[in-house]
Amino acid sequence: MQTPQHQLSEVFALLSEARSAGRATGTFVDLGSGDGCAVIEAARRGYAAHGVELNPALVLWSRLQARRARVKATFSWGNMFAVPLAPYDVVMCFGVPSLMPRLADKVRREMREGTHVVLYRFALPDWQPVAQRGNVRVYRHHVQKPNGT
Ligand SMILES: C[S@@+](CC[C@H](N)C(=O)[O-])C[C@H]1O[C@@H](n2cnc3c(N)ncnc32)[C@H](O)[C@@H]1O
Repeated sequence: MQTPQHQLSEVFALLSEARSAGRATGTFVDLGSGDGCAVIEAARRGYAAHGVELNPALVLWSRLQARRARVKATFSWGNMFAVPLAPYDVVMCFGVPSLMPRLADKVRREMREGTHVVLYRFALPDWQPVAQRGNVRVYRHHVQKPNGT
């Protein structure tokens, strides 16, 4: 199952609202990139976009689609939990609910202050989105100091 095109438009509209001065550039990764549609759309909109996907056939398909769309988007075959998140300004995921607690831990450990997570369908448990429309939620990562602030 993929994020429908109209929901992808919502993803990027909400990201522009949530990010400072509506910045639509930077680095973007889709964890579990499926057929590559979200990554290709991100690249079209000016992000340096990358997808990681467990299914190698979908990685090959996504590369082909990116070439057809004439966008610079990269895809790798692998497990999303092995991908370092520190390089990214935006992390997207359309995963199953059972993955969300593990994803939340990974975001807390690896993402930089002020970076964003965008989720389609399923929420991060105990996190408050900074923007939400329907099933699309955007979270801003706030690095916790040792005293808990
Ligand atoms: C619901 S699809 C979402 C596809 C795409 N991100 C989108 O929004 O259209 C989820 C994808 O995550 C992939 N996936 C599931 N677990 C994964 C993991 N641990 N690492 C990488 N990809 C994974 C699946 O193979 C599937 O293609």
